[in-house]
Amino acid sequence: MRSIRVNRNYSTKTVALTAETYSDKVKRDERFKKLEDSDLKFFESVLKDKNYLITNEDDLDFFNEDWMRKYKGQSKLVLKPKTTEQVSEILKYCNEKKLAVVPQGGNTGLVGGSNPIFDEIILSVANLNKIRSFDEVSGILKSDAGVILENADNFLAEKGYLFPLDLGAKGSCHVGGVVATNAGGLRLLRYGSLHGTVLGLEAVLPDGTIYSSMDSLRKDNTGYDLKQLFIGSEGTLGVITGVSILCPARPAASNVAFLAVSSYEAVQKVFTGARRELSEILSAFEFMDGTSQELTRRYLKLDYPIESGDYPYYILIETSGSNKEHDDEKLETFLGNAMEEGLVDDGVVAQDETQLRNLWNWRESLPEATAHWGGVYKYDVSLPLKDYYKLVEATNQRLSERGLIDLDDDSKPVVEAVGYGHLGDGNLHLNVAVREYNKEVEKALEPFVYEWIKEHKGSISAEHGLGFQKKNYIGYSKSDIEIKMIKEIKNHYDPNCILNPYKYV
Ligand code: FAD
Ligand code: MLT
Ligand code: ZN
Repeated sequence: MRSIRVNRNYSTKTVALTAETYSDKVKRDERFKKLEDSDLKFFESVLKDKNYLITNEDDLDFFNEDWMRKYKGQSKLVLKPKTTEQVSEILKYCNEKKLAVVPQGGNTGLVGGSNPIFDEIILSVANLNKIRSFDEVSGILKSDAGVILENADNFLAEKGYLFPLDLGAKGSCHVGGVVATNAGGLRLLRYGSLHGTVLGLEAVLPDGTIYSSMDSLRKDNTGYDLKQLFIGSEGTLGVITGVSILCPARPAASNVAFLAVSSYEAVQKVFTGARRELSEILSAFEFMDGTSQELTRRYLKLDYPIESGDYPYYILIETSGSNKEHDDEKLETFLGNAMEEGLVDDGVVAQDETQLRNLWNWRESLPEATAHWGGVYKYDVSLPLKDYYKLVEATNQRLSERGLIDLDDDSKPVVEAVGYGHLGDGNLHLNVAVREYNKEVEKALEPFVYEWIKEHKGSISAEHGLGFQKKNYIGYSKSDIEIKMIKEIKNHYDPNCILNPYKYV
């Protein structure tokens, strides 16, 4: 996999304040206190070093703005504690004083959840960045929350193990951040969700209480599984400071095939064939439409994996196993059959590690390519596979009917709507690339997209969460009773609502 920090410099436009763009959706809660000098003095006394407090306007921008450059908060203070105890002291104080706080990891979230809306204090866990321990027999890794995902994986690689989650933002996102969002990534198909692999957590509750289940073993049936509440809670329930996770052995052999396919029906057949014929060695099944390839080619100027012709659909298949010869032979037979049956029109198979990395690099560059024109409206949805791509078609049709879309006409706000995603998990990423963020486009998309998903029995978030973007739309995927229970839990642990306010709870 490529190892870069995610690029954030694709647009030079300044980012509008969320509070202004969405003034109809959100007002500052005046129960929250405004930051005073006495508060700064207290935080300095806890952190003991001025370098762990950021107050300089220019430096604050990185923390206030999101990766898509769609959301911008107005925080005047970032705190970067070095220990769980410091996090606890900070939250206890904020709770007593009613100072609102946004927990932040690597700030690669895609729903505006990691940034403040108004003047909330940003609590970055970036300085909690130590691997605590690794048990080479059980494969259990215990890590601080602020360890960068790629650093955790590199550490594990030296021991012959693998972090059971991989995604394009790995060079920037944190172990705690991916748990807080319950990220899915490129190999959920193989290693399952973090709800299964995370064994224990350490988290600081809004009143400063430190909860820990870091010593849990793989099997533990004693009462409620409390850690699950924090997995996917998006910083609304506690600040995660430590993660204990079960890691699989690193596969000795991997291979990647990149295929061109002419119909969506054939894509589904290739998937069922891959599951049947590659079975235990299938580790990723990624889907990309032709337009996503075109945008990537135009902007990133990378070598197109398949040079001949334009196809409507592309698939990336990865195998991982313990015996290279066996796995390569399986893949070759599978691909030969798929071609013979006319399911696959063209394709390449990585011949070495560099080619394998380049193919993944291409796939992992799609988010950057779709965001390049000035902005991108992103929807990360789950859908039954029969309807998976229909959402992209329905969205393109809606944007065309409204005269909003043209790839080559700079006067139109929308460049193109594209689809890619983790088809093996039923997870589609609908991306509407725009020349700039535009209310007319947003009104055409929302709630249209959410209504369409509900009608087709999908989920409005498969992996990025709800954050600020979907704060008013949770009802499309959760019942009234579920929403009531979520609110009751939030009110119980965070009665002053200091943690990540204005977001989905
Ligand atoms: P942040 O963005 O900082 O925060 C995300 C949320 O978690 C916020 O609500 C924040 O308040 C909360 N949070 C963060 N840290 C903590 C903590 N320690 N305690 C409590 N709350 C916390 N996601 C996928 O699921 N699959 C992908 O394949 C994928 N690919 C991506 C590719 C790119 C290029 C980018 C930019 C993003 C991608 N994402 C993907 C989005 C994904 O949500 C993040 O990369 C990751 O989960 C966020 O981690 P982070 O450390 O950056 O968290
Ligand atoms: C991905 O799968 O690439 C990520 O979830 C990011 C995105 O949706 O663009
Ligand atoms: Zn994804």
